[in-house]
Amino acid sequence: MKRLGILISGRGSNMEAIAGHIAAGSLDAEIAIVISNRPGARGLEIARQRGLPTVCIPSQGMDREAHDRLTFATLQNHQVDLVCLAGYMRLLSPWFIQQLPQRILNIHPSLLPAFPGLEAQRQAVEYGVKVTGCTVHFVDEHLDHGPIVAQTAIAVEDTDTPETLSARLLREEHRLYAEAIALVLSGRYRIEGRRVIRT
Ligand code: GRF
Repeated sequence: MKRLGILISGRGSNMEAIAGHIAAGSLDAEIAIVISNRPGARGLEIARQRGLPTVCIPSQGMDREAHDRLTFATLQNHQVDLVCLAGYMRLLSPWFIQQLPQRILNIHPSLLPAFPGLEAQRQAVEYGVKVTGCTVHFVDEHLDHGPIVAQTAIAVEDTDTPETLSARLLREEHRLYAEAIALVLSGRYRIEGRRVIRT
């Protein structure tokens, strides 16, 4: 059974959705550890209620790589095969990314390369795009940048606010992340340049 390490900072709904897919049998994996860099993350409480192993490694005021070394050691102790960022609000150091080549996934609430960074849904509404979506991608050393594993598009309605759009997108995120994780765990893909090609 492949083992996931999930990194969170807040609400934890994507982490919860992954746990839900596993419980429902639609994702063949186990969550080895949920790590938060923020002590108050609501996702930590959700994970504990589900009986998932959790660790908090507070990052405030810590040197980035020193913090990442602690995180990496914890992932190793739990023999993690794949790391999933799920609302992890901290940039990872090049050192961390080099330890786990093509073993870190992120989910981002836009159709990358549009609207990287914070508040992607607000960026989309304010820009006036008619279509947006969510992206699961491998993490490289640049923000919201690595090879794209999966995307889903949705329409932006004239009545949308960042909040209504976020809520609709979140439902898509929860489905897409599990699908992308399943693909990566299956190993049935190859990467050519930036392209993730199913095999
Ligand atoms: C999601 O919108 C995700 O795409 C982005 O951060 C948010 C995390 O939400 N990276 P949650 O903590 O999973 O509920």
